[in-house]
Amino acid sequence: MFYDPRKNDHGLPRCPFKAIVSPRPVGWITSMSAKGEINLAPYSFFNAVSDDPPIVMFSSDGYKDSMAFVAETKEFVCNLAVLDLLTAVVNTGISYPRGINEMAAAGLDPVPSRLVRPPRVKASPCALECKLLQIIDIDDLDGQPSHRHVAFGQVVGIHIDDRFIKNGRLDTAAMQPIARCGYADYAVVDKVIRVERPRTPDEAHPLIKPAAE
Ligand SMILES: Cc1cc2nc3c(=O)[nH]c(=O)nc-3n(C[C@H](O)[C@H](O)[C@H](O)COP(=O)(O)O)c2cc1C
Repeated sequence: MFYDPRKNDHGLPRCPFKAIVSPRPVGWITSMSAKGEINLAPYSFFNAVSDDPPIVMFSSDGYKDSMAFVAETKEFVCNLAVLDLLTAVVNTGISYPRGINEMAAAGLDPVPSRLVRPPRVKASPCALECKLLQIIDIDDLDGQPSHRHVAFGQVVGIHIDDRFIKNGRLDTAAMQPIARCGYADYAVVDKVIRVERPRTPDEAHPLIKPAAE
C-alpha cells in the first residue's frame, strides 16, 4: 500500500506511522521549573543525535510541562526506561496539572543529580544529565507551525549502575531497556546481535541472517 500522510488515506483504523518508526527509545525526562517544581514524563520522540559531544533530543507535541520547564531552567535528565519500570513509565505519561510531581505520584524515589538541578530516578539504571543547547519550533512544508518543539541537550554527566558493567562493557540486554512501538506496544531489548563493522570492501559480510548471541 501507499498513503499520503497529509490525507491519512491509509484506510486503517489507526495511523501506522509510529509502528513504522519503531521501536523508539524512551527518554524519561526529569525537569524542574524556575520555582523548583519537579516533572517527570516519557518521550519516545527521543534519541541521541551525537556521541562526541554527546547530544540528545526530545520532541514535544505542544509546549508540555517538560518543554516549558526545560525552556525555563535549561536543564534536564534522561532516565533510562527499563522493563522493571514499564508501568511507572506509562503512569508518568498521565496528564497531571502543571506543578504536580509525577515522580512522587508514581511512587518513584528521586536522587539529586550532580551537575544539574532536576533529580534523576533512583530505580533507573542509567541517567544522562543534560544542559539545553537549543529548542527548535518546527514549521511544516507550508511554513505553518507544526506545534512540535524539539529540545537538544548536551550530556554533561552520566550515571551507570555498576551492576550492569560486565567485562568492561555495559550490558544493555541485562538492563532490559524498553522502546515504544506503535499503538500501545513496547519492545524490550533483552538480547543483542553483534556484527562487527567492515572497514574495507574485503571485510564485507556474506549476506546471511546473523544469529543472536
Ligand atoms: C511511552 C510514552 C512516550 C511518549 N512520547 C511522547 C513524545 O515523544 N512527545 C510527546 O509530546 N508526548 C509523548 N508522550 C505523552 C507525554 O508523556 C504526556 O503527554 C505527558 O503527560 C507529558 O507530561 P508533561 O506535560 O509533564 O511533560 C508519551 C507517553 C508515553 C507513555
